[in-house]
Amino acid sequence: MADNKKNPTQVEDTGHVWDGIRELNNPCPRWWLNSLYLSGLLVIVYFILYPSLPLVNDSTKGLLGWTQINEFKEDMAKVEEIRAPFENKLAAMSMEEILADQEMLNYAIGSSKVLYGDNCAACHGTGGAPAEGAGYPNLTDDDWLYGGSVNDIAMSIANGRAGTMPAHANLLTTEEVDQLVQFVIDSSNGVPTEAGLALYNAKGCFACHGADAKGVKAMGSANLTDKIWRFSGAEDQIRYSILHGVNDASDPETRVAVMPQWSEKMAIMIEARTYAIEEGEDPNEIDWDDELEGDEAERLTETEIKKLAVYVHQFGGGQ
Ligand code: HEC
Ligand code: HEC
Repeated sequence: MADNKKNPTQVEDTGHVWDGIRELNNPCPRWWLNSLYLSGLLVIVYFILYPSLPLVNDSTKGLLGWTQINEFKEDMAKVEEIRAPFENKLAAMSMEEILADQEMLNYAIGSSKVLYGDNCAACHGTGGAPAEGAGYPNLTDDDWLYGGSVNDIAMSIANGRAGTMPAHANLLTTEEVDQLVQFVIDSSNGVPTEAGLALYNAKGCFACHGADAKGVKAMGSANLTDKIWRFSGAEDQIRYSILHGVNDASDPETRVAVMPQWSEKMAIMIEARTYAIEEGEDPNEIDWDDELEGDEAERLTETEIKKLAVYVHQFGGGQ
């Protein structure tokens, strides 16, 4: 160090002089040089211990035998090890039991986020709220087409859904369409007229939307008496729904509303369990060999659907 503090007149110069300024030839600081040598040494040590030199198809292995992919696999194995007891427990629990068990509920919700993001968010939006006018139902409100119990939600996911409403363009006169559009608007405002209701009944709308126009869960027919719209509450859009219907193959302009099926197997299982409970039988006694053929389509596993149903149920609108 002291060497560097010499009086400039005592220091060698490089012989370069510009405008009377002499370029001195001071040595580099010792600490700096030492760091440089040390880092060179470290390079050699790493070179020997870790994969380093690229070869044609591979690289030198290094003395430690370390690879990035192995490290990843080991980490994943640790994650699996931590998850395994939860996954096994979850597989054995019913959805109602999961909802009642805070620890398992937290686990189910936590591990559903990726599952939901990968499979559902494209249509239903992150967090269950799709983009306005996207044509997909909002999963966070209190309005359920097919029911908001965790069982109903699991059935929606497992079996898929496709509500159908016939196109009425050829069934109604223009005046009748106008009156029914007005009836739907009045109903959503809570002030339906007698005449409107009479036409609604006469034209058979009640058969699907119910005598009170509140919708029928078994059919997924929308509730016409609230301000939550499956498609849109704008007058022209209500007219469009009535004229062209939903999923009506005979009308090329029909609204398309298809929720894909995620597990035929799970759908059969939910149905069989629900039926057994209705009949007063023990659902644990069901002979699955009898119920299932073994070749049912399954895009998500039973546990995955359980998790997702619980997750969606927690969005805020679960019943
Ligand atoms: C391709 C788009 C699409 C994807 C992907 C999709 N859905 Fe749907 N989902 C729909 C449509 C459309 C409906 C409404 C069907 C109808 O109107 O009859 C629906 C309906 C539902 C319902 C019933 C809502 C109610 O009000 O009763 C639930 C629950 C649901 N989806 C959950 C999910 C979950 C969970 C996933 C991911 C595993 C998912 N959906 C993936 C399009 C989709
Ligand atoms: C065969 C059953 C059926 C009949 C008959 C029917 N609908 Fe529908 N309607 C549905 C279903 C199911 C939906 C919801 C479709 C979906 O979300 O997949 C629907 C949706 C609607 C919507 C859209 C609501 C919204 O929130 O955007 C309106 C409006 C409507 N129906 C009015 C009527 C009127 C008026 C009649 C009588 C002329 C009628 N429907 C007859 C089954 C029916």
